[in-house]
Amino acid sequence: MDVEQLKKVLQERLTQSRYEHVLRVAEKAKSMAVRYDISVMKAEQAALFHDIAKCMSKTDLRDILEREQEDPRLLDFHHELWHGPVGAVIAQKDFNVADPDIVHAIRYHTTGRAEMSDLEKLIYVADMIEPGRDFPGVETLRELANENLHAAMGACIYQSVKYLVNKKVSVYPDSIDCYNAYID
Ligand SMILES: [Fe+2]
Ligand SMILES: [Fe+2]
Repeated sequence: MDVEQLKKVLQERLTQSRYEHVLRVAEKAKSMAVRYDISVMKAEQAALFHDIAKCMSKTDLRDILEREQEDPRLLDFHHELWHGPVGAVIAQKDFNVADPDIVHAIRYHTTGRAEMSDLEKLIYVADMIEPGRDFPGVETLRELANENLHAAMGACIYQSVKYLVNKKVSVYPDSIDCYNAYID
């Protein structure tokens, strides 16, 4: 599916503000791809698809997780995590996205994981630092993202886990594994 067609689909499936976030992530992902010599086409595809399931109802997300026999532990964690794996399923099944790296980048953009490819890191980081994001420390993450993708991913997962711990909410095991991989 070409980019313009995909954008039309996204406009139908997402709220305006979510759609605009996705466009900003795509722009950030493309510039980071050039910087780190990653396929710009793959980065754009993964970025455009990353939140495709974000505006679905909790019930629909749950149905797809169950139907696809995704990790049942997901249902015990905050539903904010669900749109990553569901988005990956939708990209594969409804839009014929076959490249496993793109599918993984969509799937793990909510949690991270221990062994992330450069494309996965790029999408995770671009999602967190796109120009619409505003939280304490985001400028430092933006600077790091220009310098070193691996270090930026480490700083982003640290920030995410710290945020959850401070809120005293549970942390999905993939995120802990991701955090541990960067701390080592
Ligand atoms: Fe997301
Ligand atoms: Fe996002």
